[in-house]
Amino acid sequence: MSADSSAVRRRMELLPITAVYQASAERSAALELVIGGCRVQALAEQFGTPLYCFDAATLDAAANQYRAALSRWYPAASAVTYAGKAYLSRAIVRWAQRHDLWLDCTGAGEIGIAVAGGAPRERILVHGVNKSDEDLDAAVMYAGVIVVDNLMELQRLALRLRSAQNRPSLWLRLRPGVAVDTHVYRQTGQEDSKFGMSPQEVLQAAHFCQEHGLPLNGLHFHQGSQFRDPAPIGLALHVALDLAAELSASGWQMEALSPGGGWGVAYHEDELPHPEIETYVRFVSQAVVEGCRQRNLPLPSLHLEPGRSLMARAGVAVYRVGAVKQTALRRWLFIDGGMADNPRPALYRARYSALPVTNPERPCIGPAWIAGPYCESGDVLIEALPMPDLAVGELLVVPMSGAYHLAMQSNYNGARRPAVIWLERGEAILIQRRETLVDLLARDVDL
Ligand SMILES: Cc1ncc(COP(=O)(O)O)c(C=O)c1O
Repeated sequence: MSADSSAVRRRMELLPITAVYQASAERSAALELVIGGCRVQALAEQFGTPLYCFDAATLDAAANQYRAALSRWYPAASAVTYAGKAYLSRAIVRWAQRHDLWLDCTGAGEIGIAVAGGAPRERILVHGVNKSDEDLDAAVMYAGVIVVDNLMELQRLALRLRSAQNRPSLWLRLRPGVAVDTHVYRQTGQEDSKFGMSPQEVLQAAHFCQEHGLPLNGLHFHQGSQFRDPAPIGLALHVALDLAAELSASGWQMEALSPGGGWGVAYHEDELPHPEIETYVRFVSQAVVEGCRQRNLPLPSLHLEPGRSLMARAGVAVYRVGAVKQTALRRWLFIDGGMADNPRPALYRARYSALPVTNPERPCIGPAWIAGPYCESGDVLIEALPMPDLAVGELLVVPMSGAYHLAMQSNYNGARRPAVIWLERGEAILIQRRETLVDLLARDVDL
C-alpha cells in the first residue's frame, strides 16, 4: 500500500473532530462545525474569510492547567508568563489579566500593546536580543522586569537606571550551551546561539550589577520552542544553579529563576496526544527543587514562559475554497489565505490538518495540496492531506492556528490581515477588524 493510501485509510478511521481542535469544537445535528457554541459557517458569513477564531474556554483550560500543575509540584512562589510573541492584542492582554499571567513583551511595540490592554507594571517582563534605545526606554518606563541579553545592553541600562524614577528588576539571560530537540530555526539555548550570555559573561554581568548597585534578582534561559522532551532543561538548570551557587558566595541571592517556555503541542492528528503540560511542569519543578537542595540554595520564585502551549490550540483559521485544480501529480485546493497569515509551513515545513466546515464526515477521495493565493510556490499550507471532494465556495478550518500565525503575518501581495474573533459562551466578539485598503495605504507618502 502506498504512503498516500495508508494516510487516506488512517484519516477515514479518525473521528473528524480530534484533539487538535478547540476543546469546545463539536459537530451540530445539521453536520456543521460549531466552536465556542457558534456555527463556523455563520461566523464566516458575518465576518468574512480568512477568519481567525479564538475559543476562550480552550485558553482558560490551558492557563488553569499551568497554574494547577505549578501549585501541585512547586512548593515555593511561582508565576506563569504568557509569551506575547505567540500572538498579542489588547483582548489577549485582558484575558491574561483574568488569569494573573505576566506578559513577556519583546520590544517597545509589544510593551505598548500590553500597556494599552491594562497590564500592570509588575506583570510586564521585557525580552529582546538587540533592544533599541526605544525598547530600553519603554522597558524602564513600563516594565517590572527586564531580561538582559548581553553586557553592552547592561551598560546602556545602567546609564538609564541611574536617573530613572522606576527601577525594574533585572534578570540575566544565560546561554546554557544546551538546546532542546526541535527544528534548528527554533533552537535558542545552544553554545553558538545569538541569544543570551555565556556562563562566564553572566558572572561578569552579575558583578557589574553588584558594583553599580543595579537591582539584579533573577536568572533566565530559554532553550527553544516546540519541544516534547524536557530532559535538556535539566542540563541547563545545572548550569544556571551552579552560577547561582557561585554568586551566592559573593552575597547575591537568586530570587527568581525562569527556564523560559517552549513546551510543544500537536499540530496534526499524527502527533497526538498533545504533550502534557503537567509532565513539563512536574519535570521542571522537581529539577529546580532537587538542584537547589543539592547546592543548599533557597528556592527561587519559578517563572514559566509558555506561548504556544497556551495559545495554539485555542485558535482556528477559517478559509474559503476559491478554486480546485488537478495537475499531473496532485489535486490542488486553493483557499483565500496562506503564507501571509501563516508563514510556518514555509519557514519550518510545519504540518497542519484541516476539515470542511459542513459535513466533515464525507469520505475522502484522496490527498489534496491546500495552497494559498500568493505568488510563491512555497505558499502551500498543507501537503498531501486526505480530503473529501470540496466544491468552490466551501469553507475549511485549519486547527492549531492560535500561535505564531497572526504574530508573524504580512501584507505580502497586498494581503489585508484577517479579522480575529473571540468566542465565549456562544457569543462572537470582533477583537481585531480585517485590514482594509486604507490601512495598506496609511503609511504611504505620495510623491
Ligand atoms: C524568551 C522566550 N520565552 C518564551 C518563548 C515562548 O516559546 P513557546 O511559544 O514555544 O512556548 C519564546 C519563544 O521563542 C522565547 O524566545
